[in-house]
Amino acid sequence: MDKHYAPVNEIQYHIGLSRAQLKGATLAVLPGDPGRVEPLAKALADKGTRPRQIGCHREYTSWLATVSGRRVLVCSTGMGGPSVAICLEELARLGVEQFLRFGTTGTMQEKVELGDVIINNAAVRLDGTSGHFAPECFPAVADFKFTMALVAAAEAAGLPYHLGISVSSDTFWPGQERYDSFSGYVPRRMQGSLREWQALGCLTYEMETGTLFTVCSACGLEAASVCGAIAKRTDSEAVAPREVYEAAFDRMIKVVRGAVAGLGK
Ligand code: URA
Repeated sequence: MDKHYAPVNEIQYHIGLSRAQLKGATLAVLPGDPGRVEPLAKALADKGTRPRQIGCHREYTSWLATVSGRRVLVCSTGMGGPSVAICLEELARLGVEQFLRFGTTGTMQEKVELGDVIINNAAVRLDGTSGHFAPECFPAVADFKFTMALVAAAEAAGLPYHLGISVSSDTFWPGQERYDSFSGYVPRRMQGSLREWQALGCLTYEMETGTLFTVCSACGLEAASVCGAIAKRTDSEAVAPREVYEAAFDRMIKVVRGAVAGLGK
């Protein structure tokens, strides 16, 4: 497959970044929320180093940090497949080769507690975007070594974590069989889907990993995904209070820092 890199000073249309600005970073950590980029970059950065903002365009806020001596881009993707795919396309053109989603998720298995760390090794493609990159029968699968680096880091830190499949839905309400929506209606083909995914052993719902894994596999790029559980669908449809995200965040930082150190340069 031919690879089309951007000229060094060409600004990418959506993310508003050039290759020169990335200063050779080949690993990107990708939260969904632009507001989470700064605290994430600061928490990941090596002591004594100074992460700094390099871009802010549409839903894509970008900071550069040094993590285990390695230059790392932290860039928000916005929510859902389309904005993730645009981010991947443009960052790949700037030379990024490894992509790590850093997100939140709703657990569907009793054994997963709020605040636990989820590492996804695969995803159900309940999105539309990934179908523009590969046929439906193509798997949404994580990079094995990258994923094992996350697992090793979670083990080393003694953190509660779970490894398994995410159901990546284009929608937060009907696609995740939530009835607490404006209309309260879930189309018939999605009624009972939560029970089905549970029976199939899926761990969680979120909205980006399926697109990430499919696009990266299809383009010869490496992807992994780590999420914090902020909803427990075996109990309710609600999202937990902020402290739950904060507890998950601290754990995920340890996992990501350990994984980046384990991956080497
Ligand atoms: N993100 C989702 O997409 N679903 C949840 O339940 C929680 C976070």
